[in-house]
Amino acid sequence: MGRVIAVANQKGGVGKTTTTVNVAAALAEQGQPVLVIDLDPQGNASQALGLDRSATEASIYDVLIDGLPLKKAIVATRVKGVSCVPASVDLAGAEVELVSESGRELRLRQALERTKLPANTVVLLDCPPSLGLLTVNALTAAAELFVPIQAEFYALDGVGQLVRTMELVRSALNPSLEISLVVLTMVGESTVAQDRVLDEVQAYFFERLAQTTIPRDPAAHAAPAAGSTAIDFAPESPVADAYRQLAKELLAVGKVAVPSGTKKD
Ligand SMILES: Nc1ncnc2c1ncn2[C@@H]1O[C@H](COP(=O)(O)OP(=O)(O)OP(=O)(O)O)[C@@H](O)[C@H]1O
Ligand SMILES: [Mg+2]
Repeated sequence: MGRVIAVANQKGGVGKTTTTVNVAAALAEQGQPVLVIDLDPQGNASQALGLDRSATEASIYDVLIDGLPLKKAIVATRVKGVSCVPASVDLAGAEVELVSESGRELRLRQALERTKLPANTVVLLDCPPSLGLLTVNALTAAAELFVPIQAEFYALDGVGQLVRTMELVRSALNPSLEISLVVLTMVGESTVAQDRVLDEVQAYFFERLAQTTIPRDPAAHAAPAAGSTAIDFAPESPVADAYRQLAKELLAVGKVAVPSGTKKD
């Protein structure tokens, strides 16, 4: 199996989904097969990949709750090289339905382990804005945590809680989980306040912070309404270029995996 990467931050609206679908499209453009698993009941990733939620037959809900083989829920998207396991509205109930189930944190991991994907597939897990069971399933299934952080005054609020959740999952369920990359999103023109935020995030994450930052760009906002990624909707836009760079960084990080407790020099 290739890499399994959870895109998570329990803070809402920080660019998780935009990052997931655009990195997916950029990786596919670079020849890498990608599977996006939409773990958010809002279904934004499914929509941005052009999937009509109401017409969706199988979803990640059926996989997590009813044990449907993951393969049966995978659909092609309009983005060449990107397939998707869509979300559905009933996923909102999954958090509650899973609570009483044994092995509830392991559902996604087991589903992935039972699935044969094309070699080198990068699996991106788009998490909802919470640290509930859906996100815990993602953190248990993934080897890597990829954290988008919005460049704003409260950027680091809640990040400590995310890191603590990661540590808990690591000690109880998934020792191989690591933060592989952190990216600053919706970066505007340089201001004293914003530069201070960037410095703080840099000081917190050191070398995990991506060199690439994602600019605030209307193309990123307009694409989902067109059922598209910015890469496909506005291929020449600054945000599309930034996501192509970020995808390259993500591939490079995969080649120099940093073992737990050590630092790159
Ligand atoms: N680089 C950008 N430039 C401009 N707008 C952006 C950019 N990235 C994201 N947005 C917009 O910001 C909003 C939040 O982005 P997105 O949905 O990706 O965040 P999220 O973290 O997935 O949200 P949620 O927590 O609800 O799942 C969306 O309206 C999106 O179109
Ligand atoms: Mg989202």
